[in-house]
Formats: sequence, C-alpha cells, structure tokens
Amino acid sequence: MSRCLLILLSLVLLALSATSTVYEPLPSLREQQKIASEWVNLRTNVVIPKLLEEHKVEMWILSMREYNEDPVFWGLTNPTSTFSARRRTLYVFYRSLKTGEFKKYEFIDNTEQVWTDLTAILYETNPASIVLNIDEKGNNFADGLHAGEAEALLKKLPWTYWMRVQRQPLLATQFIATRVEGQLEIYKKMMRIVHQVIREGFSTRVITPGKTTPNDVIWFFRDRIQSLNMTTWFQPSVDIQRYNPSTNLVETHSGNTPFEYGDFIWTDFGTTFLGLNTDTQHNGYILHPTETSAPIGLQRGLTHHSNQIQDILLREIKPRLTGNQILATTLAQMRALNISGTVYCHPIGDYGHAAGTLIGMTNLQDGVPVKGDIPVFENMWFSIELQANVEVPEWGGQVVNFRQEEDVYLGGDGGVWWVVGRQSELILVGESSGLGKSGESKIKKGKVSLVKQG
Ligand SMILES: *[C@@H]1O[C@H](CO)[C@@H](O)[C@H](O)[C@H]1NC(C)=O
Ligand SMILES: *[C@@H]1O[C@H](CO)[C@@H](O)[C@H](O)[C@H]1NC(C)=O
Repeated sequence: MSRCLLILLSLVLLALSATSTVYEPLPSLREQQKIASEWVNLRTNVVIPKLLEEHKVEMWILSMREYNEDPVFWGLTNPTSTFSARRRTLYVFYRSLKTGEFKKYEFIDNTEQVWTDLTAILYETNPASIVLNIDEKGNNFADGLHAGEAEALLKKLPWTYWMRVQRQPLLATQFIATRVEGQLEIYKKMMRIVHQVIREGFSTRVITPGKTTPNDVIWFFRDRIQSLNMTTWFQPSVDIQRYNPSTNLVETHSGNTPFEYGDFIWTDFGTTFLGLNTDTQHNGYILHPTETSAPIGLQRGLTHHSNQIQDILLREIKPRLTGNQILATTLAQMRALNISGTVYCHPIGDYGHAAGTLIGMTNLQDGVPVKGDIPVFENMWFSIELQANVEVPEWGGQVVNFRQEEDVYLGGDGGVWWVVGRQSELILVGESSGLGKSGESKIKKGKVSLVKQG
C-alpha cells in the first residue's frame, strides 16, 4: 500500500518537474534568525578584533539614533534583536594593542546617562586611539557618523580623548566587505535560484514572440522571487538587441515592445535574502521556429569576447592589489587580444554595491578616484561586471553589446572562484527541450583556472 503511494507520488513529482521549474527551498524565518545570529556573532567577536589589530586601533565608537543608522549597523544586528537603531544606539569596541584583550559595549538610551557610561569606559580602558566613522573623501561606508550626532558625541568626549580621535575608513569598509563562515552556503543557494529564475523567464513558458514584452519578463522576475521569499534591491532590466536587415542596423528595444524571433535578449537581475544581495546579467536568443541554435557570431561574442574578459579579470584579482591596478592590467590585456569592451566590477554582499575597491566604473575606465585605490581583501566578494563590443558577421558585421555580470568570492587563500559558475552558452528561447534538463545544465561550474603568483 505505502509502496503504491510512493510510486504514485514519484510519478506526480516527475510530471510536475517536467512542466515547472523546481526551486530549492530557502531557510524558514525561524532558521534564518539562527543563521543570522551566528553571522553577527562571528562579525562582532572575530572580524572586529582582527580589524582593530590590523589597523592598530584601540577603540571604535559607532553612534546613531533611531532610523538614522550607520551602514555598519546592519552587520551588527540580526532579525530578532533590533530591526533598526533605537533611541541613541552606541556600539563601543575596544581591543588592547598590548594584551589583545577585547571588550564590547552596546547602549540604547535616550538620556544623558549614555555619555556618563561612555566616559566611564574611556577612563577604564584609556584607549590610545579612537576611530569615528567620518570620511569626506568618497568612502561612503566609512562616513556613518551623521553630522549632528558627531557634534553631540564630540562635545561629550573629555578633551584627552578628543585628542585621540582618528579616521580609519578601512575599518568600516573592511568590516562590511568581509564574508564570514556560512554566508557562502546561503549565497550559493540564492545564486542557483537566480540562474534558474532567469532561465525560466527566458523560456517559452514566459516569452511568446510577438506578444510578450520586456516589461512582462521584468514583472515575471519580480513575482517569481516574491513567491520564493526573496526580494530585490533594484528593478530588473530586460532589453532586446535586434538586427534590422533592411537598414543594416542593430536596434535596441525595451519596455512594451514585444519580443520577436531572432532577438538577442539580456537581463540585469538581482536578489536580496537574509541581508545578502546578488547581481547577475545573462543573455539569451529567441530561436526562429526553423532554428535550433543561435547564429555562431552571437555565441562567439560571449565565449570569445565577454567570457575572455571575465577570465582575464579572475586572473588579475588578487588580495592587496587595488581596483585601479587590476583595471589597468585587465584593459592592457584586452587591448593586446584586440578585445573591445569596458570593465566596471563592484564588491557585493551586505549591499548590492558593497564596500571595497571598484574595478572601473562605466564612465571611469582610467581609474576610479578614492575607491579604486582601496586594496582587495581576502574573504570578500565581487560582482564581475563588464561588456564586450563585438562585430557579428550574421548581423551585417554590426556591433552587438555583450554585457555579463556574475558574482565571485575570494577564499582565505586569495583564490578567486565563481559562486556557482558563469554563463558560457546563450539561453535559447524556444529550445525543444523547453527549460533544458535543469536550470543549471548549461552553466559551467567550479573553479576558474588560476594563474598563481610567483
Ligand atoms: C516561503 O515562505 C513560506 C512561509 O514561511 C513557506 O511556507 C514557503 O515554503 C516558502 N517558500 C519557499 C520556496 O521557500
Ligand atoms: C581587431 O578587431 C577589429 C574589430 O573587430 C578588427 O577590425 C581588426 O581587424 C582586429 N585587428 C587585429 C589585429 O586582429
């Protein structure tokens, strides 16, 4: 009896999987709380003492008021402790440079008592240096002490300690950039789901040429991730590059223009879950009913141009190099290989555009002031974002834009790895197999060949 039921159940599941994408479940709210608490624990008790030691700082004070948080705050709180800063919220971290003794304090108060308490800590620990999150140069993540709050705090600091106040923008930057144990596991799940959602959106289940529009796919993405308990940090983009043989031009379309057979389609799509953010750009092609593959020129644009820029970047990204150094050597190698394109990679994780160095920006290919001079840290993560301009022979030799974005992480050894893989084949809309065997079958997994230093 139970065996019959099992067989029946398997048949039902099989039938279901043939018609709909099966997504892996994410942790429940209750499980999320446990996971996030452990991350806060590691960040507070492991990452902060390590950073204070590295930057030779004895005290770090974060002060903020309700709903006016320092960007560092979100790495120090978890889904049940505090949903936002309350009253006046003060975090004080102290580590003795001599003994390594580490102490942390948290105050949530709306009276003058908080300053009395802070002063008591100062007299007790007598820190040689005190960092406040003030930075006017472009390190936005290190400027979390709001102007009025800085005035209030500095008025209350005894003058001996006032003299010891410093700025160290790398403290906040590196705190936000540093990935802790366990985050990658969740991030990989998110990324597998993202790749699957894009494949579902770029399939005949969602796209009917002549009828469906880029806006429809955008709202499909929004609805789908909501049903999977994820949100997003930006409105997704979907657009079309379409060859018009009568004018011999490549047209771009978006919004409410329906897709057509032969369109080269693209999306920029990100998700948010458990305080982490992803950022992905993939490309697809809408097959004519008579076609079984995309024009070779379109496939080669990906494999011979944008994939190649990705390979160069992954070899060039190394801890302690700055984003500007990596940008310069990457662009030089692209020129040597006659690859035309631009590079604009950003850190990811706590924020969509997270803390750390920038490797180019769309409008800054000669280097990015301030942020481009920050070094790469171990255990951080990046969104590898770039585009190649490629002449496509089948499209009258006209230039097509290959925009790719895929997230990587740096290991503790400085090695650079794709989170789940990168796109190296166009997603084909109208492929007889519909969605393909599994959402990921076309995405290469694993480590990218690394050229080791020395
Ligand atoms: C989304 O959350 C609801 C409520 O917690 C849960 O029942 C459902 O299984 C979740 N869905 C996924 C795909 O994880
Ligand atoms: C470099 O690429 C351009 C554009 O595709 C092409 O016209 C030119 O012949 C290439 N040059 C070399 C040396 O391969």
